[in-house]
Amino acid sequence: MRVGLLFGGCSGEHEVSIKSAQAIAKALASGDNQTKYQVTPFYIQKNGVWLGPEASQNVLSQGLPLGDQPVTPQQRWQFPSAAAQMDVWFPILHGPNGEDGTVQGLFSLMQVPYVGSGVLGSCVGMDKLAMKMVFEQAGLPQVNYMGVERGEIWSNPCVFPALCDKIEAQVGYPCFVKPANLGSSVGIAKVRNRTELEVALDNAASYDRRIIVEAGLTDIREVECAVLGNDNPQASVVGEITYDSDFYDYETKYTDGRSQMHIPADLPPEVVSKIQTMAIQAFKAIDAAGLGRLDFFYQPATGHIVINEINTLPGFTAFSMYPELWRASGVEFPSLVDRLLQLAVA
Ligand code: ADP
Ligand code: DAL
Ligand code: MG
Repeated sequence: MRVGLLFGGCSGEHEVSIKSAQAIAKALASGDNQTKYQVTPFYIQKNGVWLGPEASQNVLSQGLPLGDQPVTPQQRWQFPSAAAQMDVWFPILHGPNGEDGTVQGLFSLMQVPYVGSGVLGSCVGMDKLAMKMVFEQAGLPQVNYMGVERGEIWSNPCVFPALCDKIEAQVGYPCFVKPANLGSSVGIAKVRNRTELEVALDNAASYDRRIIVEAGLTDIREVECAVLGNDNPQASVVGEITYDSDFYDYETKYTDGRSQMHIPADLPPEVVSKIQTMAIQAFKAIDAAGLGRLDFFYQPATGHIVINEINTLPGFTAFSMYPELWRASGVEFPSLVDRLLQLAVA
């Protein structure tokens, strides 16, 4: 089977995507996968241009993004001819323009199978406001939150103080201000007072039209569960992330030694089973498929478990939580990649 491995992309998570693709390419070139699959890499530069197999392989081998030179609209419509030869696609793009239903829409139009969620699951999983509304309908416990539009922050100076008053009354401090459509904590701020709130809203508005403000939980443990499957998805063991910073921000996520993964997490069995049940419920609620990593906050003092988010194309490097959770659940990395491709063509 010819597999198109699509990576890079116009996203702040471009570099992570290259690392994820390296690990997947290696797994597809090992053991039985080697005879089952012929992998062709396709790299999307930060400017949106797709490179052909040879240049993409160079990026994959070197692990470094290519320059981001300006392009014409015509160049963006030029897909490498080898793309038409693929039997199935493995898009391992993180964040906007890849995890959000855009690439999934392209493949759906082209009528080729691909790994992971379809258009609906991808875009609902990406937009934190849409995701929270769907989770709410599904009865999943979440933090108190409020949606804000960029227009309320930027276009009308009279509305802004009233907006801040409303956030203080409805959500309070500390709170988290987030652009609705990003990942890896980009643009997210923890806010403790009015001045910080004003700065954080302005900053979040520079990333997205849609913003979410959430009540900030304290004394929480961050726990994650991996889900695999289509109509009958299964949940992995539960893992935990610990770190020494104020919250799990970009720097903590991507600086070696700043965070630790604990698999399985040291949790009471009833908490684990509740998280696994909620993970599958949330995966189904947004119509996810193939894979998803569900992230939760667990507050030991109260016993509360709230869902934070789903990542429909989670980090997939050799050391990422998603494959590590499955390894601890008995599915090694190469078998996991094989299972995902089989789910895509099922
Ligand atoms: P991203 O999609 O970029 O990963 P998250 O919504 O997961 O964004 O937030 C990133 C991190 O910020 C979380 O892992 C957690 O450390 C912290 N955080 C986010 N929301 C809250 C909240 N409501 N209460 C406490 N911590 C939060
Ligand atoms: N968005 C990053 C890649 C993750 O969730 O793992
Ligand atoms: Mg997160």
